[in-house]
Amino acid sequence: MTIDNQFGKNGWTPANIDSQSGKTYVITGANTGAGFQATRILLSKGASVVMLNRNPEKSQTAISDLKNEFGEDAKVRYVVMDLADLSSVRNGASELLASTPQIDALICNGAIAQIAKQTLTVDGFESQLGVNHYGHFLLCGLLFDRIDASKGRIVVVSSEGHKIGLRTMQFDDMNWDKNYHPNKVYSQSKLAQMMFAYELQNKVRESGKDVSVYVCHPGASNTSLIRDSANFATRATWSIMVKLGLAQSAEKGAYPEVMCATQANLKERAYYGPTGLMNFGGPVGECKLESFVLEDTVLKRLWEVSEQATSHSWNV
Ligand SMILES: NC(=O)c1ccc[n+]([C@@H]2O[C@H](COP(=O)([O-])OP(=O)(O)OC[C@H]3O[C@@H](n4cnc5c(N)ncnc54)[C@H](OP(=O)(O)O)[C@@H]3O)[C@@H](O)[C@H]2O)c1
Repeated sequence: MTIDNQFGKNGWTPANIDSQSGKTYVITGANTGAGFQATRILLSKGASVVMLNRNPEKSQTAISDLKNEFGEDAKVRYVVMDLADLSSVRNGASELLASTPQIDALICNGAIAQIAKQTLTVDGFESQLGVNHYGHFLLCGLLFDRIDASKGRIVVVSSEGHKIGLRTMQFDDMNWDKNYHPNKVYSQSKLAQMMFAYELQNKVRESGKDVSVYVCHPGASNTSLIRDSANFATRATWSIMVKLGLAQSAEKGAYPEVMCATQANLKERAYYGPTGLMNFGGPVGECKLESFVLEDTVLKRLWEVSEQATSHSWNV
């Protein structure tokens, strides 16, 4: 199915962004990859950016690179947050709330992918589900009132990989103790992030809150996402894709998340990203949203399971 691109044949690019002076964006996992590039684009338009990163040294290097490019006055800082540790998410969120009166958008970008062997987070979750979904679920819940007061947005960065697994949640074994598979588990974690977003849209609509929620994917982008974590076969396949020119730059991979954070007149019940061959690259616009992602009983059950797992009841 082809969907008309509202931004014309070249799709959305940062040329569509007006001045972002006075706006504040918060991005997880922004020291490298698409998150770093999203930070660059937003700074280039005059925004303030707070990076939520797990590694202070990498954060300082990223900030120094950004200040070299945009000047010492560039409004960029970081707060330490490890999405694999819910107490770190709570501490980081408190620090952020104390220092950040306005959040125009929270971009849930940070992730790990295709972890070769089952690994558990500090709180005992399978690591991809723990970092990508539960960490962000709690973070969004803790920042929700501030985003609401700012009439802000939540942007979920998913992956075309959400289509390659079970296409639902494995509720009877969320950690995949019995049948661990690196790609299927990554797929479940990115699907969980999307289901969270669409259920949050339902709840926001019912409660009359002032938060918009958008979902996107970055296509295939040449970042370090699987460089150290994936098994040999996955890394070899990826390096062939890069050599064949099938992976676009990390900067282009950042376009969909920046678009969802800044662009007016987007649809919420939608899925944005590159629309070229296999959605790997190409013009950024609206992609097909598959019906299994909106399966209502699964959305509702996942929300309950996630509130229990993170011990956080949402105020929505
Ligand atoms: N690249 C692709 O082709 C592709 C395809 C589909 C979807 N995506 C999605 O695009 C987004 C960006 O990924 P990327 O490709 O830019 O990968 P990346 O270069 O590896 O960047 C991922 C970021 O997430 C951070 N992160 C990892 N674990 C974390 C944790 N426990 N707590 C806090 N931060 C953590 C990383 O920090 P460290 O530097 O400390 O590790 C890094 O800053 C992800 O949501 C990914 O799923 C990417």
